[in-house]
Amino acid sequence: MRILVLGSGAREHAIIRALLSEDADHDITAAPGNAGIAEDVRTVGIDPTDGVIVASYAEKNNIDLVVVGPEAPLVAGVGDAVRQRGIPVFGPGADAAKLEGSKAFAKRIMESAGVPTGRAEVTATVEEASSTLDRFGAPYVVKANGLAAGKGVLVTSDRDAALAHATEWLEHGTVLVEEFLDGREVSLFLLSDGEHVLPLSPAQDYKRLLDGDEGPNTGGMGAYSPVPWLDENFVDEVIETIALPTIRTMAAAQTPFVGLLYCGLIVTDAGPRVIEFNARFGDPETQVVLPRLVTPLSGLLFAAATGGLGGLPRPEFALDVAVTVVLASEGYPAAPVTGRPLLGLDAASAVPEVQVLHAATDVKALSTDATSSWSTETLVATGGRVLSVVALGSTFDEARERAYAAIGSITLEGGQYRSDIAASVAPAAH
Ligand code: AMP
Ligand code: GLY
Repeated sequence: MRILVLGSGAREHAIIRALLSEDADHDITAAPGNAGIAEDVRTVGIDPTDGVIVASYAEKNNIDLVVVGPEAPLVAGVGDAVRQRGIPVFGPGADAAKLEGSKAFAKRIMESAGVPTGRAEVTATVEEASSTLDRFGAPYVVKANGLAAGKGVLVTSDRDAALAHATEWLEHGTVLVEEFLDGREVSLFLLSDGEHVLPLSPAQDYKRLLDGDEGPNTGGMGAYSPVPWLDENFVDEVIETIALPTIRTMAAAQTPFVGLLYCGLIVTDAGPRVIEFNARFGDPETQVVLPRLVTPLSGLLFAAATGGLGGLPRPEFALDVAVTVVLASEGYPAAPVTGRPLLGLDAASAVPEVQVLHAATDVKALSTDATSSWSTETLVATGGRVLSVVALGSTFDEARERAYAAIGSITLEGGQYRSDIAASVAPAAH
């Protein structure tokens, strides 16, 4: 299959590695990709958020399937532009991507679908936000309504901090005040063709920057999969009470959801509750879900993109477990320092069962001597989350040891990573 993957993160690198691991001769292009992706497949420097450019490229190059990685192209309508040319695309159109792009829209869909979630109110002024905080009580949950790159949410018991966060984000739009949900967090990905869904394996993300879930929220600092503490009927319950009602409601509203329905859930005593939907694969959860996938990914994505999931068996996963640890630049998430050399990746990849998936990396020519034209190329970090080290193992301890041995051999000045990813993966107490 000729496949075009849009995006440039470790999530897209994981998607590409999963496609390459199939027993098939796919022709894969990434737009724009990164330095690691460029070692694996062809990359093209086109803007992934420009629907006309992406659709024209796909048409000209006889692409059979476009896979949209990040949310920005989806919200910008790239899915619609590609679909209009009759090319299968894994990813919803702009209207359906509002499930991620607008938290207020997502809440309305959940309400009409009867999906279990926390109560929430949209506030437009500081006065409204203030009185809603008092009505809901502590702990306070305050969320920017639009896309905020993982920085829009604050959960705190400090009322002043909650109001300050609301005030800051009210300058950019409306703000949601939400009921606090008490429980453990888990992500479940479901492939959707607009009518049917198929679940992937659950994963646990670590959103806070520092060990012990301290520090600011980030895009995700690590993950593991599967999630042994979940009840065995968890996936079925999410399909019946959350995914199918949502997909049916979206279809009835003439905004069918084709692509990846990411359910961000809190498992409360009363069952799973949605904290957020995303319209694409999660990052870094994808890095631990896809290496365990046994069913060929391309067939699943193509079936979803072409209305063909009905009647297919659920995707199969290896019994191995996977752990990923994210290496971030100094200053992430507030103000990442970029441009610093990244060393030791070969040693990291040489650890058994380890893959190094690139996110914000680039190859730069460094002049080693100002008096000569001789220069050398070096890998540099170009953003906040730089790479994901992924390890498989037969136990979490084994996978963890491998992941940490690998990341320990990578050098990035000021680089930061959590040391407690998958450290306490207790099974469910029955
Ligand atoms: P979100 O961007 O909506 O996923 O929120 C970021 C993080 O804030 C989540 O991963 C949770 O840890 C936390 N969070 C969000 N909403 C709630 C809620 N209603 N109750 C408790 N924690 C929440
Ligand atoms: N890991 C959280 C996300 O992808 O949104």
